[in-house]
Amino acid sequence: MTVIETPRTGLRPFVPEDIPAYAAIRAKPEVVHFISGGARTAEQAAAVAARVVPAFIQHWREHGYGPWAMIEKASGQLMGHMGLQFVPELGAVEILYMLDTPFWGQGYATEGALASRNHAFNALGLAVVVAIAAIENKASQRVMRKIGLTFQTLPPYRDMTVALYARERASGGC
Ligand SMILES: CC(C)(COP(=O)(O)OP(=O)(O)OC[C@H]1O[C@@H](n2cnc3c(N)ncnc32)[C@H](O)[C@@H]1OP(=O)(O)O)[C@@H](O)C(=O)NCCC(=O)NCCS
Repeated sequence: MTVIETPRTGLRPFVPEDIPAYAAIRAKPEVVHFISGGARTAEQAAAVAARVVPAFIQHWREHGYGPWAMIEKASGQLMGHMGLQFVPELGAVEILYMLDTPFWGQGYATEGALASRNHAFNALGLAVVVAIAAIENKASQRVMRKIGLTFQTLPPYRDMTVALYARERASGGC
């Protein structure tokens, strides 16, 4: 399973030992506010984390890529998830990210999303990547635009309407 570095972070596949720290991140209402199926209590967050982390690990086994655990180099702390995921409803690979609140507003999501995008195009050879966010999630859409994705449409997705962004590999680098 691929491990990569960004200037300030390490991106490595999740391990089961990450579940408690990941659950603590997902227990914060502001973190899951715009996330489909976001938990409302610490118990729900723990249950979600216990399901999602093994699903991420399984995704790596099936596809050879997946969401990484994003680790702050300076502290060794789990920051959240960052990486690539196949979305059956869209038939496409999305860049997805969710970071703990102390890391917001410092360019970390942009740093990780750019590394994810480059990994998708350069290492995996994908022709296109997408990203989706609740239409109200302006910070997430700003990250998408900063890594060169452009708005496409507003498709219905699970229990919400989302903004769909995309970028083709042929668009050139940024
Ligand atoms: C969305 C999220 C990943 C952004 O992470 P981050 O590390 O703060 O992002 P960055 O610092 O790289 O960039 C955020 C950009 O959004 C902008 N932004 C933040 N809040 C904003 C808002 N309410 N409206 C418009 N832009 C906003 C920032 O100013 C910044 O843009 P700039 O560099 O041009 O100033 C983070 O807030 C998060 O994990 N949220 C909870 C989970 C989530 O919503 N994940 C995305 C699901 S689609």
